[in-house]
Amino acid sequence: MTRRIFVTTALPYANGPFHIGHIMEYIQADIWVRFQRMQGHQLHFVCADDAHGAPIMLKAEAEGVTPQQLVARIAAGRQRYLTGFHLSFDHWYSTDSPENTRLSQDVYARLKSAGLIYKKDIEQFFDPVKGMFLPDRYIKGECPNCHSRDQFGDACEVCGTVYAPTDLIDPYSALSGATPVLKSSEHFFFRLSDPKCVGFLESWLAAPGRLQPQVVNKAREWLSGSGDRGLSDWDISRDAPYFGIPIPDAPGKYFYVWLDAPIGYLAALQNYFTSGKARANGETRGFEEFLAAPDTEQIHFIGKDIIYFHTLFWPAMLRFAGAPYKVPNHVFVHGFITVSGEKMSKSRGTGISPLRYLEVGMNAEWLRYYIAAKLNASVEDLDFNAQDFLARVNSDLVGKYVNIASRAASFITRHFGGALRYGGDTGQLTARAAAQAALVRESYESRELGKAMRDVMGVADHINQEFDARQPWVLARDPERAAELQDVCSRALAGFKLLSVRLAPVLPAVAERVARQLFGLERPFRWSDAAVLPERVNPYEHLMTRVEPRQLEALFESDVPAAAASPATTAGSSKTAATRAAPASASASASASASASGLAGTAISIDEFRRVDLRVARIVHAEAVAGADKLLKLTLDLGTETRNVFAGIKSAYDPAALEGRLTVMVANLAPRKMKFGVSEGMVLAASGAGPGLYLLAPDSGAAPGMKIT
Ligand code: 2FM
Ligand code: ZN
Repeated sequence: MTRRIFVTTALPYANGPFHIGHIMEYIQADIWVRFQRMQGHQLHFVCADDAHGAPIMLKAEAEGVTPQQLVARIAAGRQRYLTGFHLSFDHWYSTDSPENTRLSQDVYARLKSAGLIYKKDIEQFFDPVKGMFLPDRYIKGECPNCHSRDQFGDACEVCGTVYAPTDLIDPYSALSGATPVLKSSEHFFFRLSDPKCVGFLESWLAAPGRLQPQVVNKAREWLSGSGDRGLSDWDISRDAPYFGIPIPDAPGKYFYVWLDAPIGYLAALQNYFTSGKARANGETRGFEEFLAAPDTEQIHFIGKDIIYFHTLFWPAMLRFAGAPYKVPNHVFVHGFITVSGEKMSKSRGTGISPLRYLEVGMNAEWLRYYIAAKLNASVEDLDFNAQDFLARVNSDLVGKYVNIASRAASFITRHFGGALRYGGDTGQLTARAAAQAALVRESYESRELGKAMRDVMGVADHINQEFDARQPWVLARDPERAAELQDVCSRALAGFKLLSVRLAPVLPAVAERVARQLFGLERPFRWSDAAVLPERVNPYEHLMTRVEPRQLEALFESDVPAAAASPATTAGSSKTAATRAAPASASASASASASASGLAGTAISIDEFRRVDLRVARIVHAEAVAGADKLLKLTLDLGTETRNVFAGIKSAYDPAALEGRLTVMVANLAPRKMKFGVSEGMVLAASGAGPGLYLLAPDSGAAPGMKIT
């Protein structure tokens, strides 16, 4: 039966280019979407820029442009990434659109009729210097739950708790640094605590297979709260000045960006329908009919940081707005992407620049394969490790997969003019295709992409072994054994076709070339093509090169333009584009050997000295860094947080002997991106004219996090 599926990825904030986290999510969704299309299902894959909110307004103001101009500039840069990474969205739109205004106001009116909207005066933080109410993300302070410092006003990045900015301990304005004052204003609330909302969400979360178990658990924790704290009502309005959608009949009041953002999924879909693109994609129904149809599956791919909005607010809004709105069938959540074990934070300058990836000439399909090979259906983080990337891509894609075609096709072209011929029973070949089809289909369907890739590569191993065992290069020297040679190579190429079909969702460009160029097909592969034995091949044309270490070096070079290299300033966020103090971070070198040049350096004032934040740190883990002769990677406990630091002390210390020791670190150095990861501080060591490096250590009684003054 043909499924009708509407798929979205989270809408990226329109305040900066994509970062690697966006690209990972889009690749995951794109693979799933392409797989469904290959099954013959009807699918509409849409996304949009998340254009509203105070951060975009403030950024535009700082740049001296209108928010619309800022959003348009960012939107103009999207296509380069979408094309570059083979992302097959059917439509890309914006939340700053007439459709979104209409739909958001409509949803609001329906919620109001359902008795779920009320007004209340609330006291909010107001920046007396800037003269405006402060958006949550522009208030920072200590998390009331886990006491991590410098957390944003809406949610803690360390423990995930969502709270009101007034819950923060020692708040300050991230715009001016001023202590905010409380000021009263009327706000609109969505009555999420209403028993009918809570009851609905309980049953929505309980639907078998709708959400991943970890996601259900997390949402249930929020739903039931702890002690007497259940789900709070949701503040959906913001006061002018604000870049957003006006609330009808409420001058100076706007919808909070998180109300109109998910409705932007539907606005994008509507625009896709009215623009005629849906029809061109085989859709016969109109927007509302499609949306409301019981057989329409609505599926959202999102990251784990926005589970709250997508599993509580969003389904409740849709449910109580009523038809044609329909609750999502699935919200598929993925973890973050880390780079060499370092968290790719939206607010920190870490990670891989996707633009740089393309600019240094790296093949997007390598990344698609690597991400697929490491993804499963859980919300676990995925680590990008340069060495692992190189090894996997070169071994699997080039060594196992492409190699089959390049070797087998050249014999067929040279000796048989491209004709394939199978000697003996071909039942084994078709049986293999059939058995594997079900297995791999199930893995793709359930987003167990790593398993799908392992199964496919298992078949590639098998094909290579069979090929090698029959030694075609020996057969080629004996004209009497030509039929045997033709059989060996034909079987290998039938296997290669099977692999190409199975890999097509991940490697769309390669699969397209294989279909068209090698097998002479005039359309892209369908899933069922795997079972059809090819009869001819055209001469092999190059399909994929190996990853070169120098390309990875270029990818990680730190002297790249900020816009390309640093997702920090752009990363998902407006949320984070505020003046977040750079977390301390560090240089690789731990050596204080500059002191060897003599005691009389340039004098500094005590104030200058005090700007260096020296802290006691415990080395909780130390390990050698593969490929680095001098470095150890240290994980340092600072009492309230841990940091990773690369230190050039390998020559002097056995990593195991360092674990548990206290040392001294510079905690407020700017982060430094290195080939192996990001160094977030610097440990101090003494050295003299001769060999020897000596880590500093505080006296007994000192504890991690203590300030050194
Ligand atoms: O967290 C973010 O980057 C948001 N812009 C995601 C919005 S998803 C949807 F709700 F629009
Ligand atoms: Zn916390």
